[in-house]
Order: sequence, then structure tokens, then C-alpha cells
Amino acid sequence: MVPFQIKHRVLPISLVRREQRRSVAVDGSPRITRCRLEQDRCASRLSNAREVPPGSPKTVYVLLGKPTLPYTPGSDVAGVIEGVGEHVTAFKKGDRVFTIGTISGGYADYAVAAANKVFPLSDKLDFKQGAAVAIPYFTAYRALFQKGHAKAGESVLVHGASGGVGIATCQIARACGLKVLGTAGTEEGMNIVLRNGAHQVFNHREANYIDKIKEYTKMEGVDIIIEMLPNINLAADLQLLSCGGRVMVVGCRGPIEINPRDTMTKESSIIGVSLFLATEAGTFSF
Ligand SMILES: NC(=O)c1ccc[n+]([C@@H]2O[C@H](COP(=O)([O-])OP(=O)(O)OC[C@H]3O[C@@H](n4cnc5c(N)ncnc54)[C@H](OP(=O)(O)O)[C@@H]3O)[C@@H](O)[C@H]2O)c1
Repeated sequence: MVPFQIKHRVLPISLVRREQRRSVAVDGSPRITRCRLEQDRCASRLSNAREVPPGSPKTVYVLLGKPTLPYTPGSDVAGVIEGVGEHVTAFKKGDRVFTIGTISGGYADYAVAAANKVFPLSDKLDFKQGAAVAIPYFTAYRALFQKGHAKAGESVLVHGASGGVGIATCQIARACGLKVLGTAGTEEGMNIVLRNGAHQVFNHREANYIDKIKEYTKMEGVDIIIEMLPNINLAADLQLLSCGGRVMVVGCRGPIEINPRDTMTKESSIIGVSLFLATEAGTFSF
């Protein structure tokens, strides 16, 4: 397990700091407690909630959308429970936990989260690692198993393996017995991918890397592709799949033209993945 890779993150830190100050001023409190515990019967309140990934894509999208102020960004946090709502039985003060979302915003000394978004944090993980678990690892799990139905012995290409979700996918897939191929755009990224479970790595900035993947997989193709940039890669992905293979669309930055016939010849599937459509039981049925 490695800490969240932060090199791709684009967080307007100054905006975050400014909004935090505004929230504090509006509340008239030295802590950010816009959602008060007493009003939120199923809430858990975290202290030490300083460990937040520095700007997940979700946070950046929200900030770009100019949320109503005062607004505290930040989704996943890890910390110690400071107090629980009266109907919360799963946690108690002092528990080490991580969240997949807060009610009050993560970039704060204290945060409020619904109890069903809070999970126990293993003693093996520090708070930095804990704050990096939820969105990347839950997304990886949903893409691989809940939507992709991956099985031990199958092969997976993590197309964009050097980022947060990609690293999580490589680690989980390798641990679950899949053959793992990954791509990255730099030497450093390629090394990270190899250190996190990939059997083989390719550079997606090289002109002929798709040919190299085809050569590596011979005639068999790959069973599953976890795709971070289908607007660039989807047409090529369909060529890389095995019979019955599936492309899992995890990220996307725009449209692409494909030939649907490419799905007929191998009865392959293109499947969208949305962590936020997962039900509570479904998301966390590990
Ligand atoms: N569907 C969902 O529920 C869900 C949940 C969470 C995140 N996401 C989305 O998943 C995507 C990845 O998230 P993240 O947190 O892992 O982002 P990230 O840390 O920024 O990683 C982006 C990845 O894309 C790679 N990439 C760049 N150019 C590429 C190309 N031509 N082909 C393939 N990969 C390429 C990057 O590799 P290099 O930098 O090494 O080039 C890097 O590995 C984002 O679009 C995010 O919005 C979706």
C-alpha cells in the first residue's frame, strides 16, 4: 500500500484556505462546524481530520462549478472520532477512521460525516494513507469486480495506472490473482506502476505502445481494460480485448468515434463505472 500519488493533482490551495477562513468567520467558531452534530442524528464527528488527499478530481470539479459560499472543499478524510450522534452505534470516540465523503467539508480541523460514509482505519495505515483509501480503492474495486466481474487468472490492462485509481487497481488486481498490465506516461510513473503490482508496464506516450501491448498479449488479448481516458483510447482498446472482453470506463474527458462492429467480432462490452451509483450494501460488500 502506498500513499496517494499527488503529482497530478491540481488543487487551488489559496482558494481552499480562503474558503476555510470564510467558513470559520461565518460560523463564529474557531472550528469548521457548519453541520452541527446535534442536528445530524447519524453523523460522526472527526477530529484530526487534516489528512485529506490534496484535491481529488471530485473536489476540483466542485470548485470549478463555483459552489455557493461559504463552502469547504475536500471529500475523503482520515482521523479520530471526536463524538458520535445519538443513534450511531458502530463507532465511538477515539476510533481511527476514514471517510468517503463528509457533510461539512474535509479541509478543516473537524469534519462531520454520515455514519454510513465512515469506515474503521486499520492500524497498519497512517492517516495520510487512510485519507487516500476511499475514492481510489472503492472505485478500483467497483470497476474490477462489481461491474467488470474480474476473476483470478484473467488479465487486466489498467490504462492510466500511475494515478490514484490506477495504482489502487493494480494493487487490488494483483492481490486477487489477475495478470496485471499497466500504462503510465513517464519513467517515474512506470516504476510506480511496477512497484504497485503490475507484471508489465507500457508508456502511453510512446507512439507504438499499443503494438507493444498486442505483441505482449499475443493473440489472446486482455480480458478487462480499466480505462481512464477512453476519449483517446477506446477505439484502440476494442482492438486489444480478448473474446468477451470488457472495457470499464472509469474516467473520460470527451467524445470519441469508434466502430461498433469492433464489439461484435469479439462480443465485447463497454461498461460505465460510477462509484456514486453504488448502493451502500453494494459499495462495501468486500
Ligand atoms: N467513475 C468513477 O466513479 C470515478 C471515481 C474516481 C475517479 N474517476 C475518474 O477516474 C480518472 C482517474 O482518476 P485518478 O484519481 O486516478 O486521476 P489521476 O491521479 O490524475 O490519474 C490520471 C491517470 O491518467 C493517466 N493518463 C494520462 N494520459 C493518458 C492516456 N493517454 N491514456 C491513458 N491514461 C492516461 C495518467 O498517467 P500519466 O500521468 O503517467 O501520464 C494517470 O495515470 C479521472 O478521470 C477521475 O475523474 C472516476
